[in-house]
Amino acid sequence: MSLYNSKFDSFGSYVPEKIVNNYDLEKKVDTSDEWIRTRTGMFERRFSAPHEAASDLAFHAAEQAIYSSKTTRLKDIQMIIVGTISGDHPFPATACILQKRLGLKDIPAFDISAGCTGFIYAVDIARRYIESGAYNNILVVGVEILTRSINWDDRGTCILFGDGAGAAILKRAEKNELSRIIDSKITADASEWELLMHKAGGSRYPASLETVRENAHTIYMEGNKIFKHAVKSMYSVSADLLKLNNLDVKDLDWIVSHQANLRIIDALADKFKAPKSKVIVTIEKYANTSSSSIPLAVTDAIKEGKIKKGDIVLLTAFGAGLTYGTVIFRY
Ligand code: UT7
Repeated sequence: MSLYNSKFDSFGSYVPEKIVNNYDLEKKVDTSDEWIRTRTGMFERRFSAPHEAASDLAFHAAEQAIYSSKTTRLKDIQMIIVGTISGDHPFPATACILQKRLGLKDIPAFDISAGCTGFIYAVDIARRYIESGAYNNILVVGVEILTRSINWDDRGTCILFGDGAGAAILKRAEKNELSRIIDSKITADASEWELLMHKAGGSRYPASLETVRENAHTIYMEGNKIFKHAVKSMYSVSADLLKLNNLDVKDLDWIVSHQANLRIIDALADKFKAPKSKVIVTIEKYANTSSSSIPLAVTDAIKEGKIKKGDIVLLTAFGAGLTYGTVIFRY
């Protein structure tokens, strides 16, 4: 039993200025706009400038979330959780670097490594801290600069990724308040974790001349297998959570799934028997931004007047680990 309710108070996002479209990629690798569009739904993606690191993108998104909030000021933030697999350094946590940049002190700050499910994991943890009564206001960020880890020799993965950051402030909600996080669930099936990884640079394969020569500091993914896992996992965890809360897909105003491939997003909508008009899609302009794809999509949807106060929204993601999870909330 939770003592309190929690809610999303505000959202913010940031993408780097540089746009790289499919025609730019055609000049660099053996690919085509036609292949990328039909197989993934992607057209443009953002690439960070050389001086930008994850904490810089996270800072701008966090600033926007704080600015957008009518009730939470910077000094009210009591914890920072960052979902990322491309932080500034292997350690310390990017959340700590963000804490200093925001000018905050003496609050817990830590990263979550859950691949593209990082934001969903961070939200699940944050809401439980709030609902237990331990904290009132938590800043949650999903940020990625995966364009730094692209294997340009693998045309199946190098065209997929873009950079970006999304942030949200989670807050204690009054018991009678309409806005609240209805429920969330995070989980993982690690039986095939090797399908998606960044092999070297950790304690198993420390950085060496050999790991660099082998391109082992880049993203490795078995796309076809991951595709099947993604649809199955996001559907099962979402269907379970809806059922547990006596909700039907018809009760949802919006579905925001991780933006990895338009065919995955469509397949998920088909399994849900949900009309495409309920599904938020940003993949054409940002491509796959991993843990930032969901908060980026939600921020855009709010700005465009799609997601409105009172709407019921389902967020679901899937990623390295293999992790997956779902959040259902009323905005
Ligand atoms: O965010 C974390 C989770 N990630 C995901 O969920 C991603 C899941 N996987 C996918 O989205 C898809 O599997 C990909 C987009 C990665 C690949 O699409 P696919 O339809 O599974 O293509 P494929 O790997 O089966 O390749 C089909 C063909 C191959 O040629 P042949 O063997 O049929 O002659 C590839 O060599 O397409 C070729 N191909 C390309 N052609 C042009 C692969 N990449 C490219 C490319 N341009 N960039």
